[in-house]
Amino acid sequence: MQTQSKLERIFHPIFKKNGLIVSIKRDDNIHPIISGNKWRKLKFNLHFAKAHNYAGIISFGGSFSNHIHALAFACQQQGLKSIGIIRGEAEYASNYTLTMAHQWGMKLSFVDRKTYRLRDNTDYLKDLQHKYPDYLLVPEGGSNKLALAGVGEIITELNQQCEFDTLLTPVGSGGTLAGLIQADNNQHKLLGISVLKQEDYLTAQVNDLLGNDSPFDNWQILSEFHRGGYAKFSKADEQRIVNFNLQTGFIFEPVYSGKMILALLDLIERGYFAKDERIVLLHTGGLQGIGGMLQRKLLNSDDWSVPDFK
Ligand SMILES: Cc1ncc(COP(=O)(O)O)c(C=O)c1O
Repeated sequence: MQTQSKLERIFHPIFKKNGLIVSIKRDDNIHPIISGNKWRKLKFNLHFAKAHNYAGIISFGGSFSNHIHALAFACQQQGLKSIGIIRGEAEYASNYTLTMAHQWGMKLSFVDRKTYRLRDNTDYLKDLQHKYPDYLLVPEGGSNKLALAGVGEIITELNQQCEFDTLLTPVGSGGTLAGLIQADNNQHKLLGISVLKQEDYLTAQVNDLLGNDSPFDNWQILSEFHRGGYAKFSKADEQRIVNFNLQTGFIFEPVYSGKMILALLDLIERGYFAKDERIVLLHTGGLQGIGGMLQRKLLNSDDWSVPDFK
């Protein structure tokens, strides 16, 4: 599996008008299934599980989770078992994302929202570990300390690929941004675009992953671009992403990378960036999510197509 990703220039009239040099770190191209930040975050978790002879990995996610989708496949490839603790009803098992996870051998365990909220609770996790003693517990989104080193490889690659001023990434559970911050070591400006409403929680989560007394002050989570909350977006937002995709030839989906694009466009319009600023956008993948959104008719099927993962 090719694990480095390319850096590509992206052209758009608004970049030209504002004198911005914008590139995309194509982590979406790392692998059709374990794409984007998924591979980066899972890499050392998989190594750890194998090195310590765990039978498998247990993790958490919503019923259309990119993380669950990638984890199921990655575990199957590595000869590990996998269990997904899924927020929601058992009927979700036949949806776009979970059908594949199940096919790749993941055991799906559905829990109600109240139980799901315990996913970081020490006692709950202790009980789970007791029930599955030979499984490695990995938090929602794969965002744990083991994830940081894998994500940090993005910075190592970027430093060999280009010089840049600012890196943008979508933020969901914070592991990706934390890994970038740690590896960047205060070299560049790092902007996280929160795709959900709880910005305080995310900042705390990133600080927690970085550890006490983190010396890094070159990062910020911008919280006003969530467009109503996790996986929420208006028809107008969707149309702006579709237009951007058509104009640039790249595919951004509306839950993560598309929200980063909308934030970028809004920030440019506000004059946020300096002339000649060199911006890198981290494409965190997640294109499988389009399949589930089409299935739920949340996207206009004339504008989007289902990625082929079979
Ligand atoms: C496609 C995609 N992009 C970005 C993110 C956000 O990354 P993180 O959860 O590490 O903040 C996620 C969630 O993990 C994701 O699935």
